Amino acid sequence: MKIQISDQLQSIPPSGIREFFDLVLGMEDIISLGIGEPDFVTPWNICEAGIYALERGFTSYTSNQGIESLRRNISGYLSKRYKIKYDYKDNILITVGTSEGYDLAIRAIVNPGDEVLIPEPCYVSYYQVAKLAGAKPKYIPTKDSNFKLTAEGLSRAITKKSRILVLNYPANPTGVSFKENELKKIAKVVKQHDLIVLSDEIYSELSYDFDHTIFSAIPAMKERTVYINGFSKAYAMTGWRIGYVCGPKDIIQGMNKIHQYTMLCAPIMSQMAASEALLRGESAVKAMNREYIKRRNYVTERLGQLKFDFPYPEGAFYIFASVKHTGLSGKEFSYRLLNEKKVAVVPGVAFGSSENNKDYIRICYTTEFEKLKSALDRIEQFLKG
Ligand SMILES: Cc1ncc(COP(=O)(O)O)c(C=O)c1O
Repeated sequence: MKIQISDQLQSIPPSGIREFFDLVLGMEDIISLGIGEPDFVTPWNICEAGIYALERGFTSYTSNQGIESLRRNISGYLSKRYKIKYDYKDNILITVGTSEGYDLAIRAIVNPGDEVLIPEPCYVSYYQVAKLAGAKPKYIPTKDSNFKLTAEGLSRAITKKSRILVLNYPANPTGVSFKENELKKIAKVVKQHDLIVLSDEIYSELSYDFDHTIFSAIPAMKERTVYINGFSKAYAMTGWRIGYVCGPKDIIQGMNKIHQYTMLCAPIMSQMAASEALLRGESAVKAMNREYIKRRNYVTERLGQLKFDFPYPEGAFYIFASVKHTGLSGKEFSYRLLNEKKVAVVPGVAFGSSENNKDYIRICYTTEFEKLKSALDRIEQFLKG
């Protein structure tokens, strides 16, 4: 029998990151600046909360919406940090990572053919997940505005079909972020055109140069924003698969409807560990941030000396650098650097349209300092030929 997968799925390419890293697997002595996840293990008090949950026999499903105490803690945390009120009963849903939050939000909101506007370069899932939901994803290039969406760029991209704007800051793959006054300008256009915003702020706690502003705190945005966050990056909890969304009651209910037929609930021990992260995780986050800042400063300085051009990363743990001065495309650079010097970086084309990103690579500095130094030395040798 010939198995046929759906036409729609056949039109979706595999993730450019995974494709490249399948090559890396099995190679020895590689320094990877590729996969975007913390190199730290989850802080011990958070692990202990998960272990303790298991020891006490918490191994069951939870309510679809998530454990009440975690929803209360999220509500309390956001109120304290951003002075924003989300009711734990109506406005918060616990998800299996930020990834599920984005997927549910798209599926709960779009009708076939609705446009989802995605500033690019961007996180690899946004475009394809929107497409899988039957929406029409549309990239908004940001290269000419220092990799930041502007109100003008957004206005130009909007059509009658536009329904959703996706924001992500600090951003993957560039590390750039928005200040409040920049967000206000975008918000004005959002309101004018009646868009809904999915704001993926998973790197909010990794903001190094200025305080993070939550998009839903911009006047008139709360009622049209789905705030998506999770524990993977700030608390080094990628494997726990735990995240959350906050938003208007109707959207949260819609998302929960899909969630209850698909995921059912997020893992109970991860939910319990997440509460510990919110209540007592701050000092560990600060310690990891100090290390990320040290690495960011070092890598940007070395890349600058080697004449790489890049937008200055204000958060997250990525640098999106042009390799144009080497005469190679981002893809050629990445493959040759891997084969000749055993350093893995990701070709920029994985993060959006091939035309705009072909001269770029993404460097991720979630690697211990000494290894980062060696990687930069290898890049320097590579450039010398
Ligand atoms: C912008 C962005 N959103 C979401 C995710 C996935 O997060 P999670 O592990 O919470 O599903 C990532 C992971 O790299 C990311 O960079």
